Amino acid sequence: MKIKNNNIVLIGFMGVGKGTVARALSKNLKTMNLDCDDLIESSANMKIKDIFSTYGETYFRNLEKTLAKFLASSVRNAIISTGGGFIHAKDIKKIGTTIYLKSSFDAIITRMQNSENSEKKFAKRPLLKDPNKARELFNSRVEMYEKKADITINVENKTPKQIVKEIKKALSLKDKN
Ligand code: S3P
Repeated sequence: MKIKNNNIVLIGFMGVGKGTVARALSKNLKTMNLDCDDLIESSANMKIKDIFSTYGETYFRNLEKTLAKFLASSVRNAIISTGGGFIHAKDIKKIGTTIYLKSSFDAIITRMQNSENSEKKFAKRPLLKDPNKARELFNSRVEMYEKKADITINVENKTPKQIVKEIKKALSLKDKN
């Protein structure tokens, strides 16, 4: 499969493991990994949760849109891990080939609860604070993830290593030494 701009863009809900998979993939492919939330935090010089509490969600979404434009015009040959709401940025499909890391809501929450730094992982995500609202958000987004995905990988109960293997297979990427 031809990879658009030679960029692999990971999409999916909060806590599904986009960052973990992106790091494993970039190590495996010897490519740079850019994390959208990190890029926004360093550009704004603020943590995501502080951007939300100080300026609100719309302001954050606009930062995501600006970032999507920048990535589409200026970044090549990278792994890009997006925030869960980045699928709403108009230019996302212009950035690269999108891979949807798919999992049920309950499996995501269990994964987060069982992970190291579980508390920190919840604390830094304002939209996960209320479990009922988070589930609603998940349900409202599923269709959009499917729509924006060039490739869908079911990640439930899989290790990063297995997921990397599946992504490479889907993209017909060979191992590099
Ligand atoms: C968000 C997901 C977060 C972060 C922000 C909003 C969302 O990223 O961008 O808290 O709207 O789903 P992760 O998906 O990396 O948690």
